[in-house]
Amino acid sequence: MKKRVLRSVSIVALCVVILGCMLINAGTFNSAELSVTTPETEENESQDSLITVGFSQVGSESVWRSANSNSIKNALSEKNGFLLDFVNARQKQENQIKAVRRFISQQVDYILIAPITESGWDTILQDAKEAGIPVIIVDRMVDVSDDSLYTAFVGTDKYEEGRKAGAWLEEYERENFPYDEESEEGPERPLNIVVLKGTEGSTAQSGRSKGFEDIYLKHRNWHILAEIDADFTTLKGKEVMASLLERYDDIDVVISQNDDMAFGAIEALNEAGYTTGIDGDVAVVAFDGTKKALRMVRDGIINADVECNPIQGEMIANLINLIENGQPFEKINNIDELTFTIYNVNAHLNSRKY
Ligand code: AHR
Repeated sequence: MKKRVLRSVSIVALCVVILGCMLINAGTFNSAELSVTTPETEENESQDSLITVGFSQVGSESVWRSANSNSIKNALSEKNGFLLDFVNARQKQENQIKAVRRFISQQVDYILIAPITESGWDTILQDAKEAGIPVIIVDRMVDVSDDSLYTAFVGTDKYEEGRKAGAWLEEYERENFPYDEESEEGPERPLNIVVLKGTEGSTAQSGRSKGFEDIYLKHRNWHILAEIDADFTTLKGKEVMASLLERYDDIDVVISQNDDMAFGAIEALNEAGYTTGIDGDVAVVAFDGTKKALRMVRDGIINADVECNPIQGEMIANLINLIENGQPFEKINNIDELTFTIYNVNAHLNSRKY
């Protein structure tokens, strides 16, 4: 904020000097000559009043990610008072660190980071803190020794998302297999599960794994046959699923930690002769809630989709405005989310934009 004030003061001072010179040189003047405001200076002045934000985004690995980038670009637009420097890290933490280092040297007003993985952030966040630049962590979390290294977090509760997937599976089992009400562990029939994991070490992976595992551990008959990293992409989802089908012919449930991997996994399952979803050979649970996936929920191809809401731009813009105005704000800001099944999906499908 101080930097913007200083910039405006310098512009006014410059105008006064120019005006003074004109008066001295001309001796006389008319009002048209007095005008030192050209379209360029007007544009510069209006740019100087904008809040500058550097944003290091994870990449463009998924439909979800594109929706998240668009939401942030739209909310942090010039018409809303922001000048956004958006940098795509292409799924590499080293690119993120490089971008943040540049934001610090350019002394932006705010830094946004959607961290690819949780670890490795202490040093660069310390640098941002020493430069006096507030950092807002977006979407995924950082694992740092000192929470004061970031100002706030805006995103979703990935642990809770994992628990929701587990809770849905409990319900599914109760509805589809004979269930002994006396036993908290469910039926004796084994339930074989494979997990397609997102990028190892990301909050979206570790939170969803942990949340699901905490429900899983309550069920003696649930067996995780394999958990394999498919990096949140359709291509890897398909590859990993195809390799799992070579090893196992008794998979009951696929937990795919995002929609894109589920699309690939379903293709691999279909190519190997399996049907999926309601009345299918294999149940599929995915995360995100993109339009394409919700259509597959409606059509009974995906059984359940746990929402991860990418529309975070407005919340970030509001948060920055609160900080700018010296108003109180929450440090951790999680967005509310639903679980979509065939029972509720129609009410949400039409309004889904991504
Ligand atoms: O961090 C959010 C996750 O990252 C989304 O589930 C996934 O689709 C994305 O790539």
